[in-house]
Amino acid sequence: MVDIKDYMREKAALVDSRLERLLPSADKMPPSVHKAMRYSVFAGGKRLRPILSLTTGELLGKVDQNLLDIACALEMVHTYSLIHDDLPCMDDDDFRRGKPSLHKAYTEGIAVLAGDALHALAFEILAAKAPPILVVEVAQAIGSQGMIGGQVLDLESEGKEVTPQQVEYIHQHKTGFLIRTAVRAGAICREAGGEALGALTRYGERIGLAFQIIDDILDMEGSYKNLGKRTGADQARGKVTYPKVFGLEDSRELAEKLIQEAKGDLLSFGPDANILSQIAEFIVRRIE
Ligand code: IPE
Ligand code: IPE
Ligand code: MG
Ligand code: MG
Ligand code: MG
Repeated sequence: MVDIKDYMREKAALVDSRLERLLPSADKMPPSVHKAMRYSVFAGGKRLRPILSLTTGELLGKVDQNLLDIACALEMVHTYSLIHDDLPCMDDDDFRRGKPSLHKAYTEGIAVLAGDALHALAFEILAAKAPPILVVEVAQAIGSQGMIGGQVLDLESEGKEVTPQQVEYIHQHKTGFLIRTAVRAGAICREAGGEALGALTRYGERIGLAFQIIDDILDMEGSYKNLGKRTGADQARGKVTYPKVFGLEDSRELAEKLIQEAKGDLLSFGPDANILSQIAEFIVRRIE
């Protein structure tokens, strides 16, 4: 059995070395934006989304350079979403990945533009390296009916009471869709279809929702030292979270149930899916 932490560290290093080459060097004109893009991308981060693409690809065949580049593009999209999420007009968070947020280290203007540039670079890479259906899927997963849709509702719901259906919508959209797409990217590149693709899609959906539920719990129970971002921020901003709607205990149980179901989705792959199964476990246990 592989040690999942070692495995993730190794894959994250692979992703980082490829990101190093894909991002324009810091001295390219105009240097400020390239420095800023690099500042946020290399500030840290678990690299969960690219790791999911690579591990799913490995489950179904070999990982080639195209899939590695696609995985890196998804990490760029994720990093762009974090840069914008931290802006004063959004969550107004001053720390990210253990460092001052980009708008604090640079300016708000540069933070907006560096996020936009990462978004554009991600699609340049996807258009060159991914099958067209996957490019469309990523765009949909992060657009107004995907991640952005979730972010819109997240913002508009601050300070309001919401139903369980509404908080599920927010979490599935703002976080779940990109994670599901990261899993599907690995499967689509290895030409998975039918049952296999369906099972992996359900796995991605469940871990994606569980990931955001745990993120909410960690905002209440984690520490800056462990997370690299300030905790207690959700309550301060009146954010809609699972603990707020369901309570802490039920939220924990829900996340745990989703992870068990996600592991169930992998059964047809047999022991080969062991790593994906351990990644699912990592998502709920990353607190400990
Ligand atoms: C944080 O994502 C934002 C959410 C979608 C909850 P991660 O916890 O994956 O952040 P990094 O990439 O490791 O910094
Ligand atoms: C972030 O959710 C979701 C996206 C960036 C799309 P959060 O606002 O909960 O993430 P953190 O807690 O700031 O990392
Ligand atoms: Mg947010
Ligand atoms: Mg936030
Ligand atoms: Mg959060």
